[in-house]
Amino acid sequence: MVVDEEEHSANHKSRNYMPFMEKYELFTSSTILLLAVMNMVIAGLSQRIPTTLEGPFKPTTRSFDPSLRRGSDDLPMNHPRLRKNVTSNFPEQIALALSTPTSMWISWVTGDAQIGLNVTPVDPSTVGSEVWYGKERGKYSGKQTGVSVIYNQLYPFEGLWNYTSGIIHHVKIDGLEPETKYYYKCGDSSLKAMSEELVFETLPLPGSGKYPGRIAVIGDLGLTSNSTTTIDHLIKNDPSMILMVGDLTYANQYLTTGGKGASCYSCQFPDAPIRETYQPRWDGWGRFMEPLTSRVPMMVVEGNHEIEPQVANVSFQSYLTRFSVPSNESGSNSNFYYSFDSGGVHFIMLGAYVDYNKTGAQYVWLQKDLQKVDRSVTPWLVAAWHPPWYNSYSSHYQEFECMRLEMEALLYEYGVDIVFSGHVS
Ligand SMILES: [Fe+2]
Repeated sequence: MVVDEEEHSANHKSRNYMPFMEKYELFTSSTILLLAVMNMVIAGLSQRIPTTLEGPFKPTTRSFDPSLRRGSDDLPMNHPRLRKNVTSNFPEQIALALSTPTSMWISWVTGDAQIGLNVTPVDPSTVGSEVWYGKERGKYSGKQTGVSVIYNQLYPFEGLWNYTSGIIHHVKIDGLEPETKYYYKCGDSSLKAMSEELVFETLPLPGSGKYPGRIAVIGDLGLTSNSTTTIDHLIKNDPSMILMVGDLTYANQYLTTGGKGASCYSCQFPDAPIRETYQPRWDGWGRFMEPLTSRVPMMVVEGNHEIEPQVANVSFQSYLTRFSVPSNESGSNSNFYYSFDSGGVHFIMLGAYVDYNKTGAQYVWLQKDLQKVDRSVTPWLVAAWHPPWYNSYSSHYQEFECMRLEMEALLYEYGVDIVFSGHVS
């Protein structure tokens, strides 16, 4: 598959969107607005809204509102929200992700990443992965340990800088009660390097007739001053979970030396054999997001900016290593696509940059996953993937027509209610 990254200019990544579902208003006008914004196929607002079971419908589009603010500058690495604020072994970039309705992933980073011509990967076993948690402030009845990993981003060409990450920790805590506040600390107690106490609230159980209070949907976020507006607004609106539909940091818009990338890399650097990335942007993004992601679970799916090719045709290393997703829990066994339940909603996250053909593993898994959905337990069925199948943006027009042809009929067959994508914002 050819993926064109050149057209993703600084302007592109700075135009964020973040629709919300208001508390218990899945059936209300906010959803209608949401659907319209996301180019969803709906009838006029004055008419009865048909369900997807009555589709397919003729696609409709909304023209771009020129009053919206356009691009903005990238935040520098020494910006207070991107700078590292802990000493070496203390946790930072803390983030939550849903595992099952009664368990949660907690991920964080310790130690220092290195970037340069020569880097020496650290031994991830030197810092343990522990989470203490409980329902009362300062009292931790549960303790779990997890895994510590690293990744490298290596370029086999003189002049390009290599990167090796700090230690990335993932711990799954389980036995959680629904709609309950949990206090937690993460880190390595043997090194006396535990985090401050943090708190999150679990979501309602499937089958309870309840729904997540507010669901924030973000795509193409980047790390610009517009991103700060988006995230500040999002924090103020107190979401109970976040769907992040790909293109997270735009670390691949940078040269390895930290200089800003070119809007057309291959035009400006015709002899460069590989597109560089500047991986410290990922660490900056993890810090930038921590005030939100350390208390609200964020469910990610990969976009084209997460591909990040490096030596030996290795790709997606940052995405795959930094984020925990319920891949085993949902039977996909792939971090590129998975599903999960949250209250009365079954969410399906699809991978557009891995095999989606009818003969492939993802399609077979999707069929099985859809067959298992019990609409009396999760009445709402929501799917998300990065590039939209319908859009009128010239750079991406019909770019994923092949994926649509493979998968759309299956989603209609099982009556998917809402689809979210990014990529063209
Ligand atoms: Fe994209």
